[in-house]
Amino acid sequence: MILAEKLTKRYDNGFIAVNELQLHVKKGDIYGFLGPNGAGKTTTIRMLTGLLTPSEGNIRINGMDLQEHVTNIKQYIGVLPESHGYYDWMTGTEYLTLFAELYGIAKEKRKLRVAEVLELVGLYDKSHIAVGQYSRGMRQRLGIAKAIVHEPAIIFLDEPTLGLDPQGQKDIQSIIRDLNTRHQITIFITSHLLKEISEICNRVAIVNRGKLVEEGEISTLLQGYREIIGVENPTLEEVFFYLTNKK
Ligand SMILES: Nc1ncnc2c1ncn2[C@@H]1O[C@H](COP(=O)(O)OP(=O)(O)OP(=O)(O)O)[C@@H](O)[C@H]1O
Ligand SMILES: [Mg+2]
Repeated sequence: MILAEKLTKRYDNGFIAVNELQLHVKKGDIYGFLGPNGAGKTTTIRMLTGLLTPSEGNIRINGMDLQEHVTNIKQYIGVLPESHGYYDWMTGTEYLTLFAELYGIAKEKRKLRVAEVLELVGLYDKSHIAVGQYSRGMRQRLGIAKAIVHEPAIIFLDEPTLGLDPQGQKDIQSIIRDLNTRHQITIFITSHLLKEISEICNRVAIVNRGKLVEEGEISTLLQGYREIIGVENPTLEEVFFYLTNKK
């Protein structure tokens, strides 16, 4: 579904934020993309979603080259960015209707689709309220609704549960599972909550200082580090610390 080869980003100041990254996300994955602050996760997501041009390397989504087919690919993918501005004066319905229109959803279908996604993220009751009055949790839900309004095959969620209370985190996690199982959406997610990642993801990649340090099926990965770390049943957190702290 997503194939990134030698993906590299050198920013204008010369800093290499992403360094020859190889990623392979399969159809149906809930793929966790992990790494310490500044590891290059958001930079990678911005490249994978066509918002930032890679300095080197290439990206294929659904077999298509991202650079060549960027307009086409944007219909396939949805994104909840790390930081995003909302139009505070709009209601949830108005906000989603705007994006439905931008994605070219026919006028007669828009209303139904907007209602559908509001229901899916549990915002139906709040759809008539101005976004400026939404709590953080409600904004994250709205951001997810925006990411899926055009029925993409893949969504990128950059820290979807950041700053949410425990119930809010659980709610978003169950929305993510539902999108994956019931709506067959492939999910690429970043989070610093490693427990959350090990509960919802099937595969992960761990990056450190722009470099891929590990990728694989979570259960296989944990097994593989038993002896190396010297722990009977290592947690994802233990493996993460081992990989991101070693020289
Ligand atoms: N426009 C830019 N110019 C120069 N350096 C940048 C720019 N944007 C980001 N960086 C640097 O690139 C590195 C990776 O940043 P990025 O935001 O991708 O990390 P991240 O893994 O998403 O971190 P976090 O977990 O804190 O969100 C950081 O060192 C950051 O300072
Ligand atoms: Mg980030």
